[in-house]
This record gives sequence, C-alpha cells and structure tokens, in this order.
Amino acid sequence: MSGVARRTVVAAAGGAGLAMALTACGGGGDGGTDDGAAEEGGTLARTGDIPVGGGKILADKGLVITQPKAGEFKAFSSKCTHQGCAVSGVKDGAIVCPCHQSHFDISDGSVKSGPATAPLPPEPIQVVGDAISLG
Ligand code: FES
Repeated sequence: MSGVARRTVVAAAGGAGLAMALTACGGGGDGGTDDGAAEEGGTLARTGDIPVGGGKILADKGLVITQPKAGEFKAFSSKCTHQGCAVSGVKDGAIVCPCHQSHFDISDGSVKSGPATAPLPPEPIQVVGDAISLG
C-alpha cells in the first residue's frame, strides 16, 4: 500500500526534507533567515497520511492529528489528561491512551471513556494543499 510507504518516508526524513522542498517551491529563494522558522513550523504530515475517521500520532511532536470527516483535520496534544501518558493509537473514532485506556473523541478531543475527565487540548493546525502544519 502506497500510504504505508509514504508514511515510512516521512518518518525517516523527520519531515525536514519535505518542508525544505516545499519552502523551495512556494517561497522566494533568498529568504535565508526564514528557512529555520519554516523548518520549525514545517509540514507535520500529509493529508493522505491521515485516515478518514482515524488519525495519526506524531510522538516526536507531542501531537495527534485526526480526520473526523473527509477533508476536516484536527490536532490535539498527545499527552493524556489523566496522568500524562502519551496516547498511542487511534481506533474506532477514538484516540486511545495505553496507560489506563482512556478514549478521546477524534472530532473534538472530548472524553469518550475515562478514567480521564478532561478533553485533550486542541492544537492549531493549517492545511495548505496536502501539507498539514502548525498554524
Ligand atoms: S494516563 Fe492516560 S488513561 Fe491514565
């Protein structure tokens, strides 16, 4: 499946290579001081990497990105609001914490089942073309 291959490439490159490629295409070539900022706030994922009705954990960014409906993307902190474990997966419309099995709704981060009582905090993102970045 090509989706798996693409995900592997993104993980291996840490997104930096892709972000630089995008910067080269979209921006002026002489904005030297902007390059660092562009990398920091660069592409987190591609829209095609996020399954509809599911999501993807970006462990190194402390984020989970979801696509509750086709073309609608959300991001939340991946730190569980119960005792701070990192959520580990997205299953059946829920973001799941492995420590005590709290489930959070992929559309708004709200608690579907505890022990957590507070929602996962939303994180601002923007989608430009097929690139998802912090926004
Ligand atoms: S730390 Fe996530 S459910 Fe307890």
